[in-house]
Amino acid sequence: MSNNIVIAIDGYSSCGKSTIAKALAKKLHFIYIDSGAMYRAVTLYFLRNNIDLKAPEQITAALKNIHLNFHSRDYETHIMLNDEEVSEEIRLMPVSENVSTVSAIHAVRVEMVKQQQRMGKSKNIVMDGRDIGTVVFPDAQLKLFMTADPLVRAERRFKELTAKNPELTLEDVFDNLAHRDYQDTTRAESPLTRAHDAIILDNTNLTPDEQLAFVVERVTPFLKKQAES
Ligand code: DC
Repeated sequence: MSNNIVIAIDGYSSCGKSTIAKALAKKLHFIYIDSGAMYRAVTLYFLRNNIDLKAPEQITAALKNIHLNFHSRDYETHIMLNDEEVSEEIRLMPVSENVSTVSAIHAVRVEMVKQQQRMGKSKNIVMDGRDIGTVVFPDAQLKLFMTADPLVRAERRFKELTAKNPELTLEDVFDNLAHRDYQDTTRAESPLTRAHDAIILDNTNLTPDEQLAFVVERVTPFLKKQAES
């Protein structure tokens, strides 16, 4: 039987899930999987190919033509969509504005969950997203549910985006986050919700190092158990 460790990190948009996930993966030599990047890459494919999001047969056909892969270099997300690296393009506004709608589609979720479960089958992984602790890995050894003050989240995201999008305002980013939170938590398919056994991590006033220490302390017993087995 596989005794691999899964750390599942869920939470709202832009509250630092990927920062802590990457830091953890680096420190513990785990594989980092950014499940949001997968939904973003599917969204990019749908946009490029003018897929009608209300046409189930178009969605099903398109999903068969999408091949996603991660290239793990330096613990950053390098996602390949049909052999093309799209890591930067998936962060731009056209994808951000449509990804919540795409990720609410049942057929899309079924396919992504299947691929995510395969990726975490026998390796130590840290995966972040919205349904990792509830749907993808309900038996994960450690589950975190991350939150932060909405304005602090918008300011962090604005800082990341503004260099490449000088026309963007803080208000645009705040509104996009609020809209995504609303869609993510109210959709019928796997809405964002805290798993009953997830630990809440509110990082509004915590540095990345403080967050890392908080999580490492909680994962250490599982690492010891794994080393003994
Ligand atoms: O983490 P992110 O902001 O890159 O995620 C992009 C979108 O994908 C987000 O609006 C919700 C969706 N998502 C999801 O529904 N389930 C996941 N496991 C990960 C992301």
